[in-house]
Amino acid sequence: MINVAIDGPSGAGKSTIARKIAAALGYVYVDTGAMYRAIGVHVMRNGLHTDNREEVCSVLDNAIITIGYVDGEQHVFLNDDDVSTDIRLPAASMAASNVSAIPEVRQHLFNLQQDIAKNNNCIMDGRDIGTVVLPNAQVKIFLTASAEVRTKRRYDELKAKGTPVDFDVLLAEIQQRDYNDSHRDVAPLKQAEDAILLDCSEMDIEQTSAAILRIIGEKI
Ligand code: DC
Repeated sequence: MINVAIDGPSGAGKSTIARKIAAALGYVYVDTGAMYRAIGVHVMRNGLHTDNREEVCSVLDNAIITIGYVDGEQHVFLNDDDVSTDIRLPAASMAASNVSAIPEVRQHLFNLQQDIAKNNNCIMDGRDIGTVVLPNAQVKIFLTASAEVRTKRRYDELKAKGTPVDFDVLLAEIQQRDYNDSHRDVAPLKQAEDAILLDCSEMDIEQTSAAILRIIGEKI
């Protein structure tokens, strides 16, 4: 199977780009951040703290995460409940960042992620795909952009959906998540040694997708 790993910080455009590329190549798109978000939603629904390891672990066994595809779009199910909308709420972002620092949570999702990659040609995006989940992926890309550019993109996205947002609050959240994601002990966000670095601060979606398709074409 052909596996393409795309890692990078929040808001770099990984999911938009990965979804487009997967559609162009006929591969399955796997958004691993959505899985961490679903665990975060699960913990919040249980009224527990997402940054408390014991509390999170106490409900982990009750969180069956599955993914399915509806019209080619990935949907995430938490115990058969489609949580694809809830996981995009701002509270779910920080919850995901918190639970993703807990080793048991990562282990819980690791097998699911590897199984999908074993059985499908896929584009998988996340933070540790090239370093931990799919170290043998044929193509690895580290996609990044400045924190300000990433905040502006997320701001426009949320605004378009009618979600009330404040730019400075969003920027602070993105910086906090960058810090959390890259400083945790387990599987921190970092570029794999054999990943190609792509800074898309000055590129639009079309240009970024074209650049990545070119890289994939050269590697495969
Ligand atoms: O990509 P995203 O914003 O939906 O990810 C949500 C959080 O999940 C993010 O703060 C980091 C975490 N995450 C992770 O630790 N490992 C992954 N492979 C994907 C996401």
